[in-house]
Amino acid sequence: MNHLDKDILHLQLTGSFKGEMTVPGDKSISHRSVMLASLAEGDTHIEGMLEGEDNLSTIGAFEAMGVAFARPEEGKLIVRGKGIDALSEPEDVINAGNSGTTTRLLMGILSGLPMYAVITGDRSLRKRPMRRIIDPLTDMGAVIRARYNNNNLPATIDGKNSKLKGITIKTPIPSAQLKSAIILAGLFADGETVVEESMKSRDHTEVMLKHFGVPVEVDGNKVKVSRVNKLTGCSIEVPGDISSAAFFIVGALITEGSELRINNVGLNPTRTGIIDVLLKMGGDIKIENTKEDGEMRGDIIVKHSTLKGVEVAGEDLLRSIDEFPALCIAAAFAEGTTVISDAEELRVKESDRISVMYECLKSLGTKVEEKNDGLIIEGLGSDKQGLREGSSVDPQDDHRVAMAMSLASLHLEHGVKIKDSSCVDVSFPGFFETLKSVIKN
Ligand code: S3P
Repeated sequence: MNHLDKDILHLQLTGSFKGEMTVPGDKSISHRSVMLASLAEGDTHIEGMLEGEDNLSTIGAFEAMGVAFARPEEGKLIVRGKGIDALSEPEDVINAGNSGTTTRLLMGILSGLPMYAVITGDRSLRKRPMRRIIDPLTDMGAVIRARYNNNNLPATIDGKNSKLKGITIKTPIPSAQLKSAIILAGLFADGETVVEESMKSRDHTEVMLKHFGVPVEVDGNKVKVSRVNKLTGCSIEVPGDISSAAFFIVGALITEGSELRINNVGLNPTRTGIIDVLLKMGGDIKIENTKEDGEMRGDIIVKHSTLKGVEVAGEDLLRSIDEFPALCIAAAFAEGTTVISDAEELRVKESDRISVMYECLKSLGTKVEEKNDGLIIEGLGSDKQGLREGSSVDPQDDHRVAMAMSLASLHLEHGVKIKDSSCVDVSFPGFFETLKSVIKN
């Protein structure tokens, strides 16, 4: 691995994925831990907290509201909760950086707090759609204004001049950020708030609220909450992020001689679509040592396999939405065609992931076709005919695309050149060092 210049990483690795590893804590669970712990009474001890850039944005937002954080040792965070009524108005604009989850969940919370707040973010976040959150929160009585017809950051939330009432809503898209924003606002609203989805999105908010002592009724895809007076500080063990593990699972599957064990990964069923899809592709993946304490977790054992193309859509796609870049690499190295559909939402993630992955796969030499709602990928198969030596790719500052593209380097004599690879810090600080440490001859 060497750096050509400060913006381009020339990744040249040889060997297979071997041994044991862990991945950093789950990003979604880490966000929610900090948010609910800040609203809670008493200290919350978080172990395994991800301190990637996105989560630091969440921590920064609550620091700006007067919450104190302590780091007794690496991987441990103590949040000194202020209680639901005692957060202070941020003196300055809250900068959520690249983080959609920080922004959207915070909008739900801020709608119910008696303060005036402004949220902005980086270039990518300022382009992402916010009206999907602002409209239902406005229906609940929130006073929010944002750029471009209430769709884009910066946004102002005037919780001083609003009184929230519960709503019953069927969301137009299954989205955990949307569902969570409404649930969190519901904690401050008069009456019941009921959110129903057509398919169940990740349910970490519901799981964690219960952990903080908040009554939450879940009936299939329907979630019901009411106003709360109190959240109680607690202890949380954040499992490893399956979205980060996905790069190593796919890397091991497509690389000859690999046998890798990834310990303590979150296996919440709303997140394990990637494992189900890779099993359908013929992947040799086993799960051991499962434990459940609200969130399911366990060890993943993965061996090199000959993969075959599959069709991915519907719930499988929703349950692996963030793993699309990794899945595209599995598809590119499989035998036959993979068709990924129902993935329009990927066009409004950290980048337009459908088009960025299309461009990156083309640079690698993969035959790929872009559809409105996904990609059709012709696998290179075991002889890897068509791989283009010395490929250069531009992940467009999208952390998950940069990590996915690094997997191809093992199959290219001259590796890949990845532009602006430091974007991986958003969710996986130290990703390239971790990758290097599990590649052995
Ligand atoms: C997330 C929900 C998903 C996911 C994102 C994290 C969350 O987004 O893609 O990376 O933590 O709630 P949507 O809710 O927009 O689908």
